[in-house]
Amino acid sequence: MKVTVIGAGAVGATCADNIARKELCNELVLLDIKEGVAEGKAQDMMQTATLLGFDTKIVGSTNDYSKTAGSDVVVITSGLPRKPGMTREELIGVNAGIVKSVCENVLKYSPDAIIIVISNPMDTMTYLALQSTGLPKHRIIGMGGTLDSARFKYQLSQHLECSPADLNAVVVGGHGDTTMIPLIRLATWNSTPVTNFLSTEQQEKIVKDTMVGGATLTALIGTSAWYAPGAAGAALVESIVRDEKKLFTCCVSLDGEYGQKDICLGVPVVIGRNGWEKILDFQLNDSEQAAFQKSADAVRSMNDVLKTL
Ligand code: 2OP
Repeated sequence: MKVTVIGAGAVGATCADNIARKELCNELVLLDIKEGVAEGKAQDMMQTATLLGFDTKIVGSTNDYSKTAGSDVVVITSGLPRKPGMTREELIGVNAGIVKSVCENVLKYSPDAIIIVISNPMDTMTYLALQSTGLPKHRIIGMGGTLDSARFKYQLSQHLECSPADLNAVVVGGHGDTTMIPLIRLATWNSTPVTNFLSTEQQEKIVKDTMVGGATLTALIGTSAWYAPGAAGAALVESIVRDEKKLFTCCVSLDGEYGQKDICLGVPVVIGRNGWEKILDFQLNDSEQAAFQKSADAVRSMNDVLKTL
């Protein structure tokens, strides 16, 4: 099994580190456009192999895509991260060009790969990856909802004073501060609705804090977060390479599901060896469906910007 991570910035390197520690593949390629960065980080990670006890070979490359040849899974993290005060959407102009050329190079050497998109604005970059590669839709997966759902569980755990591992909670819709939809009505604490244990004010605060989870960290750190985004990418790689068929929220191409077409948006999907294998219908109520429509409208107008570039 071979996995490539494109972009050796904080998110890409963290994703690669998690993949190596979990021994999800024999060979892991880390590629970056900046001279020496991927080679340096790959060597640094390889020097943890005997300390952490993993046996994955990590290869760094400065923009030499031939090293990525024959990858089973490729994770794309390339592009600028957001700075404090910026929305993910503001990155579209510069990141679209980067993601498009990365996709072309990836496809040249790994025509059978499953592609996971992390670059922002993630919903639009996933749509762009699908359009520009022409790959079957099941092989293009946007990571956003996986991260947002992890952040949702974190926020819930803080209020419930419980282990996040005991929680089931998903965020659907777009991966934007105003487009994501934490489905608190459906969230459970070991099968019991979390709404049984939380006041309306607490529920509103949890939803709001989840939606601005990325922006909160960007303001604190000075740049976009990386531990949870990197771990979310690696969790998807794991479900693919081990054919786990775990249920994640991912940004995938919709063809009528949740009332949408010609768009990539976050919905619950089963992730396995074939990429995203099926979409689950969580039967949104009227207000959730209305929020999903609003999210789709916002993402669609972002996608329209691609036509002007
Ligand atoms: C975040 O929300 C990187 O978009 C990512 O932190």
